[in-house]
Amino acid sequence: MDLDTLRRSVLRRLEADRRAGLTHFPKGEAFALTPVADLGDASAEDVPPAGDGDAGGTHERAAAAGRFAAGMTRDLAAAAEPAPAPTAPAPAAALFEGGANAGNAERSTQPVEERAAALTVLEQTVRGCPRCPELVATRTQTVFGAGDPNAAILFLGEAPGADEDATGEPFVGRAGKLLDDIIKACRLRRDEIYICNVLKCRPPGNRNPSPVEAANCREYLDAQIRIVDPDYIVCWGAVPSKELLGTKLGIGKLRKQFFPYGRAKVACTYHPSYLLRNPAAKKEVWADLKWLFADMGVTL
Ligand code: URA
Repeated sequence: MDLDTLRRSVLRRLEADRRAGLTHFPKGEAFALTPVADLGDASAEDVPPAGDGDAGGTHERAAAAGRFAAGMTRDLAAAAEPAPAPTAPAPAAALFEGGANAGNAERSTQPVEERAAALTVLEQTVRGCPRCPELVATRTQTVFGAGDPNAAILFLGEAPGADEDATGEPFVGRAGKLLDDIIKACRLRRDEIYICNVLKCRPPGNRNPSPVEAANCREYLDAQIRIVDPDYIVCWGAVPSKELLGTKLGIGKLRKQFFPYGRAKVACTYHPSYLLRNPAAKKEVWADLKWLFADMGVTL
C-alpha cells in the first residue's frame, strides 16, 4: 500500500469516528434538509477554477488552462492489490434490507470482494427490471454503475444518456469526459470512485426521470449506497440532489453544505452537462470540490 492510499484509509477511519452519533433516515422518504452540523472551516470561495494555475500547493500539476483536467496524475499502480477469490454472492433479497447503512455511525467492515459480489447480484437483478414499461421498451441495456465497490466517494448522476445506453457504462458521453477531467483534477482515478445514476435506464430523448421512475429505481440506488457505504456522496445536478434528499431546492441553495444520508455526507454541485453549456460555472464546481476534499483533510 502506498502512502497516499494509507493516508486516505486513515482519514476515512477518522472521519467515521468523528461522525459517530449521526442519525439515519427512512429509506426513500423525503426529510427536512438539515446540514451536517459539525463542518470544519473549509471555505474555498476564493479558489480559481482548476487549470487556472497551481492551486495544488505541494502537489505537482500540469497546467491545462480553462479545463478541469489539468493533467494531474499520480502513480497509484503500486496500490493495486491482487484480486481476491470471489466469495459466495449475497441473495438478492437481502440486498434490499435496511436503508443506506441506516443507523450505523461507522463504515461497514465488509471486505471489498463481498461488496463486489453483492453489487454483481444487484446488477443482475437490475438488468431484468420490468418496473418502468416505457424505459424497458426503449433501453438498449441497463446502466448499473461502475467503480470501486469500496469507494469513499460515490458520484451520483441523473440517468444514462445515449452513449451510456449504448455502452452500459455511466458517464461516458461528453458530460462523462468532463467528469473524467474533474476526477483527474481531484487527483483521483475513475476506478477509485463509485459512479452511478438515479435511473438505471435511459429516459427516451434524455428527458428528466419521472417521479414514478425515480421511485421505481430508488430501491436499487439505496442498495448500491448501502453496499458501497461511501463516506461522501456527490450529487451532480438538480435531479440527483432532489431525488436523494427529497428537496425542491436548487443547486445554488444546496451547495457548500453537507446533508446526511445514512452514514454519508451528501454534497451537491452543478452537473457536468450544465458546465458544458455554462463553462463559467466550472469555478463554482471546483470550489465545491475543494471544499469537500478539505473536509476529508485533502488540499486540492
Ligand atoms: N451520463 C450519466 O451516466 N449520467 C448523467 O447524469 C449524465 C450523463
